[in-house]
Amino acid sequence: MAAPRKLEVQGLQSGYGDVQVLWGIDLDVRPGEIVCVIGSNGVGKSTLLKTISGLVAARAGRVLVDGREVTNAGPAAMLGAGVAQVPEGRRLFGAMTVEDNLKMGAFLRSDAAQIHADLDRIYALFPILGERRRQDAGTLSGGEQQMCAIGRGIMSRPSLLMIDELSLGLAPKAVEILSEALLRIRAEGLAILLVEQDVLAALEIADRGAVIDRGRVVLVGSNKELEHSPRVREAYLGLV
Ligand SMILES: Nc1ncnc2c1ncn2[C@@H]1O[C@H](COP(=O)(O)OP(=O)(O)O)[C@@H](O)[C@H]1O
Ligand SMILES: [Mg+2]
Repeated sequence: MAAPRKLEVQGLQSGYGDVQVLWGIDLDVRPGEIVCVIGSNGVGKSTLLKTISGLVAARAGRVLVDGREVTNAGPAAMLGAGVAQVPEGRRLFGAMTVEDNLKMGAFLRSDAAQIHADLDRIYALFPILGERRRQDAGTLSGGEQQMCAIGRGIMSRPSLLMIDELSLGLAPKAVEILSEALLRIRAEGLAILLVEQDVLAALEIADRGAVIDRGRVVLVGSNKELEHSPRVREAYLGLV
């Protein structure tokens, strides 16, 4: 029997006003799996995550979490269903401390002792955040801000974490630290949907992925299949 699906997206369509962006996306993520969505700038990757999380309305198709339909349920309901989103550009509160930013991710929770235990887990995952926990988030480097944004996502205790552009604008060393952290949380059973312009960075850690072009899935496969696909090598890696 196939493993149960954490997330299932069926024929999803959405857009803004008269402009349709997604034209029927199919996708699924299982527990303990990293699935990447790759594609160039402007093809609809962020729109896909926003439509899944209910920030942009779906016009057709379905979103299911743990087999339950949550299409257009809205961001709060999605968080309640165990879905956390790390938005493009991190969106931290720059004038708040690292720790207060992390605690924002736990705003639906009231279990103070557990919240403290989870903060400690995040500081174990990203020791630099522990060292900087009283510092304003706005003073962190880009890579540290991304660690904080991911930590904030984890603070809601999600079973599915969606990340919009993990590596954009970050130094290779920071991407390496972040990637290793994602592999560790995946090993704990979390499902991760990772959106990336940087195809190599995505395929490095993903189990499988989908290539999106102008709002449609044009290719799916395991990370190895995608890495060796002539289409990916030519269009996204500049190789022939
Ligand atoms: N809020 C918005 N209003 C109108 N058009 C938008 C909005 N956000 C994105 N778009 C358009 O939707 C398309 C897909 O954008 P996006 O999902 O951000 O792509 P990606 O994340 O792959 O770079 C682009 O043509 C973009 O200009
Ligand atoms: Mg985007």
